[in-house]
Amino acid sequence: MAARIALAGLGLMGVPIAERLIAAGYDLTVYNRTPGKAEPLVSLGASPARDPAELLGTGGVCLTTLADDAALEAVVLGPGGILAGAAAGSTLVDLSTVSPSVSRRVASAAAPAGVDYLRAPVSGNPGVVRAGGLTIIVSGPRAVFDELRGLLTAIGPNLFHVGEGDEARIVKLALQIMIGGTAELLAEALTLAEASGVERGTLLEVMGGSAVGSPFVRYKAAPLVADDFSATFTTSMMLKDVDLVRALADESGVRLPVADELARLLADTAVRGHGDRDFTALLLRLREDAGLPLPPLPDGADAHA
Ligand SMILES: NC(=O)c1ccc[n+]([C@@H]2O[C@H](COP(=O)([O-])OP(=O)(O)OC[C@H]3O[C@@H](n4cnc5c(N)ncnc54)[C@H](OP(=O)(O)O)[C@@H]3O)[C@@H](O)[C@H]2O)c1
Repeated sequence: MAARIALAGLGLMGVPIAERLIAAGYDLTVYNRTPGKAEPLVSLGASPARDPAELLGTGGVCLTTLADDAALEAVVLGPGGILAGAAAGSTLVDLSTVSPSVSRRVASAAAPAGVDYLRAPVSGNPGVVRAGGLTIIVSGPRAVFDELRGLLTAIGPNLFHVGEGDEARIVKLALQIMIGGTAELLAEALTLAEASGVERGTLLEVMGGSAVGSPFVRYKAAPLVADDFSATFTTSMMLKDVDLVRALADESGVRLPVADELARLLADTAVRGHGDRDFTALLLRLREDAGLPLPPLPDGADAHA
C-alpha cells in the first residue's frame, strides 16, 4: 500500500511539491486555507482535508509549506491546527521560510504532543521543484531525518542535515541574504550595462559563463531577457525573508548593512506596485529611476510556476 502523506499549503511551492509526491506514488491528503486551490490536485488523485486538525489525526507524516510565521502559527499551532489533532508518534515537517523563534514555539508544542518535528526550509523555486532539483536544508532529530530520507528525496534530491535543533532556519536565512542581494546586484549590473549601450541578453550570457554565473543567475536569465516578471517568488515574500534576516541579526547582535538597504529597496519596489511580481522586479525600480523604458506589465498578481 502507498505511504500516506499530508501536505498543508498549496501556494507556488506547495502545488509542485504535491504533484511530485503524487507522481512518486504517495497517497496524498492536501489542505489549503483557500480550498479551491486543492481542486487540480484532487483531480490528480489527492484527497482534500477540510481542517488542519485532520492531517495527523491518524498518525503519519504531514508537510507544511506556508507563507510566513503567522500562517505557520494559524495552521500548526492554532486552535483546530495540525498539532491540536495530531496522534502521538506522528511527524511534522515544515518546509516554510520562517523565524527561528516561531520554529522554537512549534518545537515546544510538538514535544508534549509526542510529535516529531523536522525543520526543512528549501532553496529553489517552483520550476526547480518541477525539474527535480530542489535543495532541502533539514534540522531536527537525525534519526527522523534518516527515516524520512526517501520522502524528502522525492521532493528534492539535495538534502543537508545541519543540526538537531533550529539550525536549518538560520542556514536558510543566511542563503536568503545571498539570493536577495544577488537579485539587486544583478539588476544594478543590467541597468548600468543597458544605460551605457550593452544589451541585457549579451551581459546575461557573459555572466552565465563567468565566475558569478551561479544557478540563480542562470535560471533568471531567460525571464529577464523576456521582461517576464511573473512571480516564482514575490517581492513581498522576499521582503518578508529579509525582515526575518534583520530580526535574527538584531537577536544575534550583528549589523548587516546590505540587508538593511535591501529591505528598503524591496519595500520601495513593492510600494511602486510590484509586490506580487517576481522579486527580480528590483530591476523595474532601477529602470524607472534611470529613465529607461519599462515593458508593458500585466495588472495585479501574474504569478506562474
Ligand atoms: N516560491 C519560491 O520560490 C520559494 C522558494 C523557497 C522557499 N519558499 C518559501 O516557501 C513558503 C511558501 O512559499 P510560496 O511561494 O508557495 O508562497 P505562496 O504562493 O504565497 O503560498 C503561501 C501559502 O500559505 C498559505 N497561507 C498564507 N497565509 C496564511 C494564513 N494566515 N493561514 C493559513 N494559510 C496561509 C496560503 O494559503 P492561501 O492559498 O489560502 O492564500 C498558501 O497556501 C514560504 O515560506 C516561502 O518563503 C518559496
